[in-house]
Amino acid sequence: MKADLLLRGISHLVTAEGPGPKHGPAMRELKVIEGAALAVSDGNVLWVGPESEWSGSAGEIVDVGHRAVVPGLIDPHTHAVWAGDRLADFDARISGVPYEKILAAGGGIWSTIRATAGASKDELVALAKPRIDALVRSGATTVEVKSGYGFASDKELAMLEVIRCLSDAMPARLVATLLIHVPPKTASDRAAYVSDVCQTLIPEAAHRKLASAVDVFVEKEAWSAAEAETIFASAREHGLGIKLHTEQFNRVGGLELGLRLGALSVDHLEACDPEQVAALAGSSTVATILPGVTLHLGLPAAPGRALIDAGAAVAVGTDLNPGSSPVFSASTALGLAVRLNGLTASEALVAGTVNAAAALGLSDAGRIESGMPADFLVLRGPDWRELVYTLGANPVREVWIRGKKVDA
Ligand code: NIG
Ligand code: FE
Repeated sequence: MKADLLLRGISHLVTAEGPGPKHGPAMRELKVIEGAALAVSDGNVLWVGPESEWSGSAGEIVDVGHRAVVPGLIDPHTHAVWAGDRLADFDARISGVPYEKILAAGGGIWSTIRATAGASKDELVALAKPRIDALVRSGATTVEVKSGYGFASDKELAMLEVIRCLSDAMPARLVATLLIHVPPKTASDRAAYVSDVCQTLIPEAAHRKLASAVDVFVEKEAWSAAEAETIFASAREHGLGIKLHTEQFNRVGGLELGLRLGALSVDHLEACDPEQVAALAGSSTVATILPGVTLHLGLPAAPGRALIDAGAAVAVGTDLNPGSSPVFSASTALGLAVRLNGLTASEALVAGTVNAAAALGLSDAGRIESGMPADFLVLRGPDWRELVYTLGANPVREVWIRGKKVDA
């Protein structure tokens, strides 16, 4: 076997085997190779196994110095493109004003929509790039990025174009999602908006391949399940996947709709009850939990432990956004899922790799296996569990994407 690159000196190489979603106890099944080596050819994994068993040749040999190697993380839920800030909201919330009240009064998400509408595409690219770089430094090699601060159709398309520009300029794989975030104030404007989304925005985004899925925020202060269903019918008609922001504050039917329509993922779930946990566990939809929101908004934690115990497939995302989760680190999100949602370290690794990939409809990401893209992390120490243990410092020493060390 002839490799372009051989990584040796790996204390432990730890990865899920086979594509996600992994459900329940399967989230604890990791393959661990001690004293491993990893061979790369053409940006893909050529071979992985105990170093003593490698018998090929390599153009370049890199000794990682007895450090752990894990798959590149997948961040399946971010809103990394925005302008302005939410520091005044933060102050208000600290003084006791609820997030939903700020939103209902025209602040919160609306203030970010106003600021984002006032920024040029170049400005938005320049604002978002360092945020995604931070996610990459923290271990993310694939990052989902949503629109949703555009509101008007042309502005939503502009946001998707910004994501396309970022994707072309960065080594990380970016997956764009069209987010239908908050509705206009009056009932007639809502109906007109939904029909514009279905007849113009979704077809255009799909035709130009600017997004692979449509996400709808289903909530008392946002869209109803019935409105979301109309939007999803158009998404499906145009070949796009379905995702939901749902059960963040209230039960208004979003989770049930997502399961009925076979959504790729239902995200948030802080307000999810035991009956819904059981329904999710019996489905193939990924439950994406976002512990940064629990920390930043002081919400109850999504029932990550109960979901896994019931047999659901759980993924974890940063939900990087200015209002509910200013978390710029994918590894920190996993560390928070361990502390706030009760995941074990192994479950968190699966939640942040193959299950997060499945939440994006990807089967070729999140694991170190022959034929997969060579996206992996060299950690600072020999024990991979530092990935979820470390808070406030970066446990990731090197990020490799498609067999090349990234300089983010
Ligand atoms: O994932 N809940 C709705 N959307 C985002 C927050 C966006 C914002 O506050 O700007 C979320 O929490
Ligand atoms: Fe979100």
